[in-house]
Formats: sequence, C-alpha cells, structure tokens
Amino acid sequence: MPLDNLWLHFTRHADADDHAVPVIARGEGAYVWDTEGRRYLDGLAGLFTVQVGHGREELAEAAARQTRELAYFPLWSAAHPRAIELAERLVAEAPGDLNRVFFTVSGGESVETAWKLAKNYFKLTGKPTKHKVISRSLAYHGTSQGALSITGLPALKKDFEPLVPSTIRVPNTNFYRAPEHADDYEAFGRWAADQIEQAILFEGADTVAAVFLEPVQNTGGCFPPPPGYFQRVREICDRHDVLLVSDEVVCAIGRLGHTFGAQRYGYQPDMITTAKGLTSGYAPLGAVLIDERLMEPFRKDGTVFMHGSTYGGHPVSCAVALANLDLIERDGIYEHVLSNEDAFKSTLDKLRDLPIVGDVRGTGFFYGIELVKDREAKTSFTAEESERILKGYVSTTLFDNGLYCRADDRAEPVVQLSPPLICEQSHFDEMEQIIRHALEGAWKLI
Ligand SMILES: Cc1ncc(COP(=O)(O)O)c(C=O)c1O
Repeated sequence: MPLDNLWLHFTRHADADDHAVPVIARGEGAYVWDTEGRRYLDGLAGLFTVQVGHGREELAEAAARQTRELAYFPLWSAAHPRAIELAERLVAEAPGDLNRVFFTVSGGESVETAWKLAKNYFKLTGKPTKHKVISRSLAYHGTSQGALSITGLPALKKDFEPLVPSTIRVPNTNFYRAPEHADDYEAFGRWAADQIEQAILFEGADTVAAVFLEPVQNTGGCFPPPPGYFQRVREICDRHDVLLVSDEVVCAIGRLGHTFGAQRYGYQPDMITTAKGLTSGYAPLGAVLIDERLMEPFRKDGTVFMHGSTYGGHPVSCAVALANLDLIERDGIYEHVLSNEDAFKSTLDKLRDLPIVGDVRGTGFFYGIELVKDREAKTSFTAEESERILKGYVSTTLFDNGLYCRADDRAEPVVQLSPPLICEQSHFDEMEQIIRHALEGAWKLI
C-alpha cells in the first residue's frame, strides 16, 4: 500500500518511502497478518501492550456495548459508571493506600500528570520549591515536553531543546555493564540506589519533588532491580520527602506476573503511572494511581488540580479495561506468566551459545538480548556496524522470518521481547529459532 499521506512515528521516512513498511491488517492470539497475508508472531505485543492477545471477542463486545450505552462523557466535574468501577477495581488490586485514580489517554500523559501533581502537592503543603524530578539514564518516559524532559535518552531530546528544566539523571541498574561492584549484585544495587540520594543532596532536597523509576527498565534492554534496590530507594525518598513514582506503563497488568510491577519487588510507590496493557491496547487509556495522602490538600475549599483532558478516562476505554481485567482474571493470565517465565527465560538462554549474544536478561514476559562483538571484552558495535548489522540485517531478517519484535540500538544493541501474556512453549521455541537464525547470519557479517 502506498504511504503518501501518513507520517509514521519514530520512523526514517527516507527508508520508509523506499522500502515497503509492514502494513499489519489483522490479528488473532499471538499472531498478526500483513496485507499480503503473511503471518508474524507478535513478539512485542504490538508495543508492550496486547497482554491478552489479538482478536478477543469479549473486548470488542465490551466496546460496542459501551458505545451504544454512552459513547462519550468527560470526567470534568462529572463522572460515568465505567470510570468509577474501573478506579475501584484498580485500587482494590493496588498496593498500600493508592486509593485515587486519575485517568489519562496514554503513558506519557500519565507521566506528565504525576509530575504536575507532585509539584502542585508540594506547593499546597508549604514546600513550594520542591519541583525537580530525578530519573535514570536511558529510561524512556514519553514524548510530550515534560515526559521527554524526564526521559534519559539525549538523542531523543536534542532536536527539541530547551525542554522543561529541572530533571536530573542517575545511573540505571544495568548490572551487565556495572561501573561499580561488578562482582556483587546487591552491593551494586545499594550503590545505584545511593546515587539517587547523592543527586537529591547535590540538588538540595528542598528542590526535589519526585523520582521516576520503572520496576524493570525497558530501554537498554530490560534492567531488573537488584535485590533490596527499591527498599533502599524508598528509605531515601522518605528521608528527603521525595515522592517515589513507579512508571509502570510497560510493567503493569501482568508483564511481570502481577497487576503492578511494584508488587513483584515488594515496594510501595506514592504514585503508579500506567497505560498500554490496561486495555490490552483495544482502546487508548492511561491512569495514575495516587496515594490518598497526596489528595488531602486538594480536598480543601477552592482547591483544584487544574489538569485534565477531553479523552482521559473515555467511557469506551474504561469499559474495555474492565473487560480486559475480567478476562485476565478468568483465564489466570498472571498465574500463567509466573508459571511460564522460567521456561521462557531458559528457552532464550539457549541463545547464549552464539558468540554474538552477550547477555539475556529480564523477568516475567519481558526480556532483552544484548548483542556484542566480543563476548569476553563485552565490546559493543560501532555506529556503522550497528547500522549495518542491527538495522540493515537483524531487524529485517527477524521480520522476514515471521517474528515481529524490536532490535533496539538506542543504547547498546538489544533484541527485545515482550509478547502477549498468553504465549506458551511453542511460541518461545518459535522466537528462539527465528532469533537464532538471524543472529547466526549477523555474526557472519561482522
Ligand atoms: C516506561 C514508559 N513510560 C511512558 C511511556 C509513554 O507512553 P505512551 O507512548 O503511551 O505515551 C512509555 C512508552 O513506551 C514507557 O515505556
């Protein structure tokens, strides 16, 4: 199909215009089909989103039912039943006192909302200079100017500077390339957490409002937290009255086998930002779960959180999210992830026999395979090699052989996998075989 009028996201249009880009027309279960009828295993759940797989009749029905009943009404000084029910449901499944839900349309908008709320909260509680945000190197938090400012990927930001000021980066938990304590995972975790405290002290605790962290950091290729990392971050945040925001746009709704990633690692955030898997992508929806105490100052007479959007908490999206959570519960999807994650990981670990595979890491149904030129020295590729091998060969070969996933070189080159949560051993084997074939070919090009 000609792409004469469509502007794709994050896409080099010189390439997109020259070579056909995939035009995906249909999906069912863990597979999608293009307009030519070719089938692909959806190794990325669309974009870390389609938790329950494609083509679920129940979700289509829920959307149709809600569209007939009440297609649209805003949450500006009004409410509708599906938003009320969904907020109640999310709160019931959330850790601690995250008793308030502010609905948005997307992950980035959830991040914006959480930062604005943090600033507003401190202004209302006598600490008006607390406004800065600390986030981690390479972490992606969205593209709107606030969320992009929090994002730790300079290459994504440079064309849009100056962005919103007052964000600070600290090291992530990439143990494979640990700059300190490379032989002691827990010590590395303590060091990484302490970098957050160093940043707070350096900036001045009276200026720092929040820390934004993903349970497992996506960009860079799935960095899980070392044991004790989040517990130490929690202590640091408490010590300096800094809010801990768990950005779970990817990690919530079963990606790590629980409703929320914070539950997997046993820590208590002050806010959780989420989106994506909340509706399994069948309709756009985001949410911020907020600790009850953060709402207290907004209950005072005349106080308003001056923030919202037309489609935040859209009734059709809320109805789809409720049906999605029903389906997840009925089919035991979280249990399925927990009982299959080891099999998924050990299937991918077979790839370690290839000299190009430096590391295989991740948790739940969320893995990154880091590619290296020299495994002993952990040498990465030059920009030219990355372009030629990763973009020019690995990406296309994976896709041509029937696997949709992401070969990402925003940091070190990684192949990322985040398939629908219904996948089982046959899908793990299929991914491993297709990746093996592509990486064997890539090695010959080095
Ligand atoms: C951790 C994280 N936060 C925020 C976002 C932004 O979400 P959206 O693309 O829905 O705006 C993403 C998107 O992938 C993400 O991974």
